Amino acid sequence: MKIVRNIFIGLVITIAAIVGFVKFTFNKKADRQFVKPEIQIHEEVIQADIELGKRIYSVRNGCIDCHGADLSGALIMEDPAMGSIHGANITPYNLKDWTDEDIARAIRYGIHKEGRSLRFMPSFDFEGISKGDLAAVIAYVRSVPAVEKESHQNTFGPISHILAVAGKMPVMFPAFEIDHAKGFAEKPAEGPTYEFGKYLASSCVGCHQSNFAGGNIPGGDPSWPPAADIRLGNFAAYSEGSFKQMILTGQSPVTGNLLRPPMPVHLLKQLNETETNALWAFLSTLK
Ligand code: HEC
Ligand code: HEC
Repeated sequence: MKIVRNIFIGLVITIAAIVGFVKFTFNKKADRQFVKPEIQIHEEVIQADIELGKRIYSVRNGCIDCHGADLSGALIMEDPAMGSIHGANITPYNLKDWTDEDIARAIRYGIHKEGRSLRFMPSFDFEGISKGDLAAVIAYVRSVPAVEKESHQNTFGPISHILAVAGKMPVMFPAFEIDHAKGFAEKPAEGPTYEFGKYLASSCVGCHQSNFAGGNIPGGDPSWPPAADIRLGNFAAYSEGSFKQMILTGQSPVTGNLLRPPMPVHLLKQLNETETNALWAFLSTLK
């Protein structure tokens, strides 16, 4: 009996120690203060093309999926193990005290105005955005009507805590994943070209990996399928025609199946001719 009791006490202590360690490490990362990288972007924001910003927000970079059509914040996840997670309200109601530079640092480096890392905002997916495009998104965010509502108080469940502490959920603390000394990407002219396709495809790498070979999506929901290999030069089933068909129908010419979430078929459907041709010009050369 004494042995059983000792094992039991030992187990309780071990579990308590693990839980304590996970909480401690999580909170330490959550509270860590970052030095804010220098950015000057206000002048570009004043000059920027708001329509271009809207396109980046709603189609090219999919901000709309987490922040919503009115920018007041959309549901991302509601799950006891993962957490209760919504995008922030990024209408002027919530960002009135943020400078353009504060907003730029949030999007580009994952750093909150208060210096902490944002939580569950995939800023590393936006590392490939040029300064002009970033200014355009900020101009758009500034232009929408204020929605008077506090941002949802996000909470994170035990699995999110464990994954984040184990380094398996980069999106939890994006500021840790980004090189704060790195400047902005150059943007090629918009056209149906390899260069512009490569620029646009920087929004695919968060899931399809930087070499486009796909695989399990880092920090993704365990129920998601792995991202496909999109080095389309490897697949005889892909031609310019079948690629365009795939974008319209959301159906893979390789397997004939409808592509499953989180592949953002609803966003790709809205790509225009130039964007689609550019993506094809780039992806079809990859092997
Ligand atoms: C996967 C979901 C997701 C996507 C996609 C996303 N965001 Fe966010 N974003 C969030 C979450 C969650 C927060 C809240 C972070 C926090 O409070 O720590 C946030 C915070 C922000 C903030 C800081 C505001 C605040 O109060 O914290 C800005 C600005 C922002 N996002 C802009 C954008 C823009 C612009 C895009 C597209 C280029 C984008 N986001 C794409 C989830 C997302
Ligand atoms: C949020 C994650 C995510 C993003 C972002 C994403 N994809 Fe995907 N993609 C997936 C997943 C997951 C699959 C596999 C779906 C399946 O197996 O049903 C997929 C499948 C595909 C396929 C099908 C390949 C085949 O086997 O026929 C193509 C093509 C593709 N993606 C292109 C893109 C392009 C181009 C972009 C960027 C503009 C992009 N994806 C962005 C997750 C993503």
